Amino acid sequence: MNTTLVINPKGGSGKTTVTINLASYFAASNVPTAVMDYDPQGSSLNWLRLRSPHAPKIHAANAARHQGMQLRSMAMYVPEHTQQLIIDAPAGASGLALQEMLDRANGILVPVPPSPIDIHATAKFVAEVLDSARVQSRRIPVAIVANKVRRSMPQYAPFDWFVGTLKIPLLARLVDSDVYVKAGEAGVGIFEMEAGLAVAERRQFMPIAEWVCSQGVRRVDPQADGEVLQLARRLA
Ligand SMILES: Nc1ncnc2c1ncn2[C@@H]1O[C@H](COP(=O)(O)OP(=O)(O)OP(=O)(O)O)[C@@H](O)[C@H]1O
Ligand SMILES: [Mg+2]
Repeated sequence: MNTTLVINPKGGSGKTTVTINLASYFAASNVPTAVMDYDPQGSSLNWLRLRSPHAPKIHAANAARHQGMQLRSMAMYVPEHTQQLIIDAPAGASGLALQEMLDRANGILVPVPPSPIDIHATAKFVAEVLDSARVQSRRIPVAIVANKVRRSMPQYAPFDWFVGTLKIPLLARLVDSDVYVKAGEAGVGIFEMEAGLAVAERRQFMPIAEWVCSQGVRRVDPQADGEVLQLARRLA
């Protein structure tokens, strides 16, 4: 099972949007898929409830911490045959909850809106995550997704500088689009909508799906990994 953690401490950065569209991409491709929601708001689980019974199946796992221990371990169950597990993190995750999610992850996606506030919050977070991964002696690949990119400002120089300095791959720039909002309301993903309605959104999202697919075969250069950690600390 390949497990992708979608995380950013900042609320509203696009964690749930990336999670549900990634899950629907895999499900629509007949890949056994599950979503694990760590957020007590349960946005991903709500989206799953909205899905048509005829839509490709996505298993729902609830890892929110407000449940009793026994209930939680049952609700967190993921079927053995699952090939792609996507974890939707809550805003502001830290401490044990963050460690638990990192322990599960084979790859980490960080959606970031290109704004100064989001950039600052994310740099600090990336430094923490890279530190944790190191403590665990695991080298979990991290990638950034620019989300809610304004059509009037497709490139935002401080964001490009931030990504370039971190030397973490920028996988995609997802435009600010009603299509994501409408898909979210309807319990579908952009890959399950009529293709003509989401041409640009699908094209922009594809590199994220490809990156997740390739996680099992990626190698990380330990020296480059160390440099990224240093840079992230300096930016934080
Ligand atoms: N690319 C986009 N274009 C338009 N709207 C978007 C886009 N990405 C996210 N949104 C909208 O922005 C809002 C916040 O997005 P989302 O719920 O994915 O963020 P989040 O990081 O999961 O938030 P939270 O921290 O509250 O869990 C939602 O209403 C979502 O539909
Ligand atoms: Mg969310």
